[in-house]
Amino acid sequence: MRKLLLRLTITAVLATTLASAEGYSQGERILDMQKMAQAMQDIQSGFFYNNADIIKAGVKDLKETIVKIRPTDAEVNNKDIYEKWLQNDLKMTNKIQKKIIKKSEDIEERFSDGDAVQALQAYSKIASRCMQCHVRLRKW
Ligand code: HEC
Repeated sequence: MRKLLLRLTITAVLATTLASAEGYSQGERILDMQKMAQAMQDIQSGFFYNNADIIKAGVKDLKETIVKIRPTDAEVNNKDIYEKWLQNDLKMTNKIQKKIIKKSEDIEERFSDGDAVQALQAYSKIASRCMQCHVRLRKW
């Protein structure tokens, strides 16, 4: 009995550790979203101050963060099939992620080529991708 209890405890501890190593909580996602909002603001400042370094830094933050976005553990484990289907739209998420990465590379390239208008266009395409997910996923 003691041995069994010990084994159960070890399994439980292991399971929790594994879950937290892999998990993605709502709190973490909110932080990532705030990081991306900041990156977008940095890029915008870069346009207005005509500063390529600020733009580069913003693009880097955005690219590093967008790849982390995914459904949270609670959403993945949701027992309500309809909600789960709504919240776990990985196909849409992957597509938006690719577009945002591509467009942020465009911003950097166009801006350093001296084409601020095209850079700004790529920027606004990113903003509309952010909103696409917010509207579809969150009905915002
Ligand atoms: C794949 C879907 C998806 C994409 C793409 C996405 N978001 Fe979000 N965003 C969410 C969800 C879901 C929430 C709500 C977070 C939560 O409460 O779990 C959110 C919340 C936010 C918030 C509010 C965070 C807070 O403090 O409550 C901001 C700001 C935000 N997103 C910015 C952005 C920006 C900027 C982009 C684009 C660069 C973006 N999001 C792209 C899904 C997305």
